[in-house]
Amino acid sequence: MISINLIGPDDTAKLGRDGSAGFAGGGLIEYNRRMNPSDPRRHSAAAERNGPPILAELRRLLPPRGVMLEIASGTGQHAAHFAAALPDWHWQPTDPEPTSMASIRAWCTGLAHVRPPLRLDVLDWPWPAELPSEVDAIFCANMLHIAPWSCTAALMRGAAGRLAPGGLLITYGPYLEDGVPTSPGNLAFDADLRARDPAWGLRDLAEVAAQAGAAGLVLRERVAMPANNLLLVWGGGST
Ligand SMILES: C[S@@+](CC[C@H](N)C(=O)[O-])C[C@H]1O[C@@H](n2cnc3c(N)ncnc32)[C@H](O)[C@@H]1O
Repeated sequence: MISINLIGPDDTAKLGRDGSAGFAGGGLIEYNRRMNPSDPRRHSAAAERNGPPILAELRRLLPPRGVMLEIASGTGQHAAHFAAALPDWHWQPTDPEPTSMASIRAWCTGLAHVRPPLRLDVLDWPWPAELPSEVDAIFCANMLHIAPWSCTAALMRGAAGRLAPGGLLITYGPYLEDGVPTSPGNLAFDADLRARDPAWGLRDLAEVAAQAGAAGLVLRERVAMPANNLLLVWGGGST
């Protein structure tokens, strides 16, 4: 069982929207394989690579315990990696794709503080009632550029309404700054994304910040990450 992983020349994590079986090709595509035919876990090499540097930032940013809502969990590797290292955080993984549920569940087997994954498309409003009504942090990696622009506003609105006072929204991925991708690799990746779907593409940080502001969130920190990615920390304007 194979699914497509879009991957930029700079090796950034870029997984196709649906994570489903696709076509063979070269260039910006890597394959996201199941470990073996009877194993529901899908594997993203990018998620494996960027997990440790993201975890280092989460350890620095997060308090010792809390409730985490993960948006766009994809394969579930991030949920498993981060939750294993942060045992006092209750982790709620989500993804809109039905095929992601089994993979997330399988990666998180044995982690009692990881809740069963829930289906969440950020555009579906209101967000499902089964989600925790208030969370201490929200993590969303590599979604904004592989989803229509309307998902950015939806993420900000949904996050602002669900974060506890002092809570943080942490987004990760490649961005444009001042309208310019941060590297030739990201420039090529942006062009590749837009060719695949005109609604996709790297997002301009200032425009993302404007959407956040409209929802009442401000950018608290910008962390440069390996492979020209950014980790962005958003919080309520008054805390
Ligand atoms: C490139 S993958 C990233 C997966 C994982 N966060 C990572 O970094 O490895 C993009 C993810 O965004 C999810 N996604 C796309 N559109 C979405 C939407 N409207 N709401 C929530 N998730 C969405 C996809 O299902 C997919 O799992």
